[in-house]
Amino acid sequence: MRHLKILFFVTLIFSVNTNIYAEESVKDIIKKRKSLFSANYKTAKRVDILSKDLEFEKASKFMKEVSENYLELLNLFPENTKEGHGTEALLSIWENKDEFNALMQKSSDDMIKLASVIEESDDIRATLKQYMWKNCNACHSKFRKPH
Ligand code: HEC
Repeated sequence: MRHLKILFFVTLIFSVNTNIYAEESVKDIIKKRKSLFSANYKTAKRVDILSKDLEFEKASKFMKEVSENYLELLNLFPENTKEGHGTEALLSIWENKDEFNALMQKSSDDMIKLASVIEESDDIRATLKQYMWKNCNACHSKFRKPH
């Protein structure tokens, strides 16, 4: 009987602990993806300004940074992070995971393409829109809560 009791408490403590860790990691994942999106917003604005100033070499460096952040974001929407901790993600992400991931991948690929075409572009503003800004709206309109 005593052994059973000990076993019971050990199991209880262990499961409470793993729950706390799971909840902690959910919070970290949501925080991490929010901070990556915020960073991308700042970096995208830099890309915009540098490109319009014809500073293509500097701009390209930041384009690659945005591209890499998108790739990291692919892994930051696991099933257990659908709600809480101030997330603005919509459930439609998990109902259309392939479409969401494809859009994230395309957004990443487009930043690399942008780096290769921007210098030869006749219309910098339109090129930035096509390869960078359009992807933000395409995804937000379907997968992020209105804010
Ligand atoms: C493939 C989808 C996708 C793309 C592409 C995308 N976003 Fe988002 N974005 C989201 C989702 C989903 C959220 C909500 C994340 C959360 O709150 O958990 C978000 C959140 C944000 C946030 C809020 C971050 C915070 O601190 O709460 C900003 C700012 C943002 N995105 C900017 C951008 C900009 C700028 C672009 C384009 C350069 C972009 N996003 C491209 C899906 C996307």
